[in-house]
Amino acid sequence: MKKSQVIIDKEYIVSEIDKRVYGSFIEHLGRAVYEGIYQPESPFADEQGFRKDTLELVKECNVPIVRYPGGNFVSSYRWEDGVGPKDQRPSQVDLAWEVVESNQFGLNEFVEWSKKAGSEIMMAFNLGTRGIQEAKNLLEYCNFKSGTLMSDLRRSHGYEQPHNIKTWCLGNEMDGPWQIGQKTAGEYARIAHETAKALKILDPNIELVACGSSHSHMPTFGEWETTVLDECYDKVDYISMHQYYGNRDNDSANFLASSVDLDQFISTVVSICDYIKGKHHGKKNINISLDEWNVWFHSEEADKHLEKWIQKPHQLEDIYNFEDALLVGSMLITILRHADRVKIGCLAQLVNVIAPIMTSDTGAWRQTIFYPYMHAATLGQGIVLNTIVKSPVYEAKQYGEAPYLDCVVIENPEKEELVVFAVNKDLEEAMEVSLDLRQYADYRIQEHLVMHNDDLKAINTEENPNNVVPKSGGNSKIDGGFLQAVFERTSWNVIRLMKHTCSLLRSPD
Ligand code: AHR
Repeated sequence: MKKSQVIIDKEYIVSEIDKRVYGSFIEHLGRAVYEGIYQPESPFADEQGFRKDTLELVKECNVPIVRYPGGNFVSSYRWEDGVGPKDQRPSQVDLAWEVVESNQFGLNEFVEWSKKAGSEIMMAFNLGTRGIQEAKNLLEYCNFKSGTLMSDLRRSHGYEQPHNIKTWCLGNEMDGPWQIGQKTAGEYARIAHETAKALKILDPNIELVACGSSHSHMPTFGEWETTVLDECYDKVDYISMHQYYGNRDNDSANFLASSVDLDQFISTVVSICDYIKGKHHGKKNINISLDEWNVWFHSEEADKHLEKWIQKPHQLEDIYNFEDALLVGSMLITILRHADRVKIGCLAQLVNVIAPIMTSDTGAWRQTIFYPYMHAATLGQGIVLNTIVKSPVYEAKQYGEAPYLDCVVIENPEKEELVVFAVNKDLEEAMEVSLDLRQYADYRIQEHLVMHNDDLKAINTEENPNNVVPKSGGNSKIDGGFLQAVFERTSWNVIRLMKHTCSLLRSPD
């Protein structure tokens, strides 16, 4: 059995976790909105037409923030088409996904849905086919109190109080040739800067995310971030990163090593942010909004054969298997290990479209990737400890040297809890792991959850929704001040330790 060592120090902290790092994403795409979160004709719908079964699963994940309305969709979207009386809303072509958008669900419905889901909103402006004026109008509609054309339009739609949306994206993937209104780095930098200037005059409380690269292998990666941030340093707060992986060659060891690529991608973007900060003699850090990340490849072939210009097709409906859940776990660990700079993260997406939650006319169910996401979002609160992982490594075809063990330890001082998230990527063997707990001598194991399946390709379906689920009762104990655990081969592990307080029994006087 291979052995690993995990080292932490109470005082050696990466950062407090920004809860927005566990965000997600709803795009007008496929069946994410229609049939995913909104389906008035469904027996599962509430009085506003929202699917109650979906809402329940979203709440189970404690989703803190949801990005909306795109994605590629936003780059030719007119937000005005989706507000006001529903019978007056126009249907429009959606150039990004070559479908028809009915606009029966729009901004105000999303605001209502988010209240029910208990999540904040992260909105995106269209900087593809539109510019400063329309972005200003949208912000004015959402955040300006009253007495102006746009704020009074909102009030006439039944929203007396502003929505006060804080986090905004300046466009989406503007570096991508697939994007409607794609721009060069220089073109985007100028429009982003001037739009940001106008928006922050209108509402200085907002936070703005500039578009970074669409993925780590974009030919313009690096140069793009440098150009955009050089121009926008004083006006924006975050740079975005997007990253999806897929096991296209059916090489599981290599696929599971993709988190090494994500780690390097984040580190490089952080370096660029800091270079620009130095160049501008600035005080503020530009942080990272990893506002699209996931596994995405299963649906690629099926999507090539979709009928065009219809509504709500079964598009990007990846059915996730067990190894996808392992990578999602590893990606979450990687994100947390960079919690000092990754402040927003959006698992893309939330329902039906490359999503942890699926719906049909007869119900909603959890895909395999639901579990690591839910565990991290609900249990991973507090402070990330600098987690040194001494793990044996292997050579991955695409990514080079990769550790067998991914691990991060989180301390929640409020709850007096320590949480260990770990993935053993070894395809053959269990791993013996020891973690020095001597600074946490009074902590005891509460629970050791394990997600493992002998079949890496095992999936959950509506008929068999509990095929791949976590189980409690993992192999771990505390021995001589050490947490000693055995992580099964290819497994996702969550160990919760809580401070043990002996209640002193007093004899009656
Ligand atoms: O999430 C699916 C798509 O992936 C988004 O619309 C786009 O931003 C990215 O390319």
